[in-house]
Amino acid sequence: MSATLKSLRALSVPTRLRIMALLERDELSVNELQEITRLGQSRISTHLGLLSDCALVRARREGKRTFYRLNPQANGTTGEFIQLAIRGARELAEHGGDQINLKRVVNRRREQAQVYFNQIAGRFDRVYGPGRSWQAFGHLLLRILPPLVVADLGAGEGLLSELLARRCKRVIAVDNSERIVAFGAAKAKKNGLKNLEFRQGDLQNPPIEAGSVDLVVLSQALHHAEIPAEAIAAAYKILRPHGQILILDLLKHNFDKARELYGDRWPGFAESDLHHWLEEAGFKKVEISVVAREEQPPHFQTILAGGEKG
Ligand SMILES: C[S@@+](CC[C@H](N)C(=O)[O-])C[C@H]1O[C@@H](n2cnc3c(N)ncnc32)[C@H](O)[C@@H]1O
Repeated sequence: MSATLKSLRALSVPTRLRIMALLERDELSVNELQEITRLGQSRISTHLGLLSDCALVRARREGKRTFYRLNPQANGTTGEFIQLAIRGARELAEHGGDQINLKRVVNRRREQAQVYFNQIAGRFDRVYGPGRSWQAFGHLLLRILPPLVVADLGAGEGLLSELLARRCKRVIAVDNSERIVAFGAAKAKKNGLKNLEFRQGDLQNPPIEAGSVDLVVLSQALHHAEIPAEAIAAAYKILRPHGQILILDLLKHNFDKARELYGDRWPGFAESDLHHWLEEAGFKKVEISVVAREEQPPHFQTILAGGEKG
């Protein structure tokens, strides 16, 4: 039988026209179609099978469920058949009732999605959200960055350097550990980041030319410096005029074991310490705030401090 005759035959049954009219705006599952039309599940499945064979509807599997919709790619004769079927369905006695039931089912679906968000309102930031992560937010924020030259001092293996290198013009990652520098450099190479260069050196006297970078980052590195004020002054030196410094560090804490567990030289810093050292180095527009607090004891808090080279 030709495709045209097959389609005409499929559309000769009023129930199939009803089904097609229901699939006009939204995709629906067999269960939903059953609830709307009050027809038996197997009858609906048979009708859908026939309509799919004629390419009048399309199926989409999602886990164990299958959703049906009018074939969005239908054109030519198939497209005309779909339009005729919808027009024909409007003349059927069941049409009004079908549309009322459809509205109810679609509204309930929408409400079910809202129930979840209503339940977690107030805790939303703390509960798991599929695909939502600080790493993803980081990538989003990076898109806003202009193409800067960045020095990441006390860079470790380059977690942040690598992220920055995906957007910035050039990133120089400095660390005083020979092994960490070797590892970070190999990883950057493996990841194809040609604009990320690792250099071994001290963050109090980084091996970077004076006045050559737009941004200096010190992420959880300053509390390892012998003399933090000296590291901040060194950052000032390597920045271009109007360059920025950004420091992420721990707010001063009483967790003495940090020295032994993490090799920390200082137990974090008071906001006033950072303020003083930044201004003393010559930085203007100094801004400091606590940006995070860990949920687990000892509840480390993170401060973000920044300033601009005058
Ligand atoms: C806690 S890690 C932070 C790594 C990275 N910035 C981050 O946020 O993931 C501290 C790093 O600073 C390095 N470091 C410690 N003292 C340093 C110094 N005086 N000069 C340069 N790097 C130093 C360590 O080798 C280590 O990789």
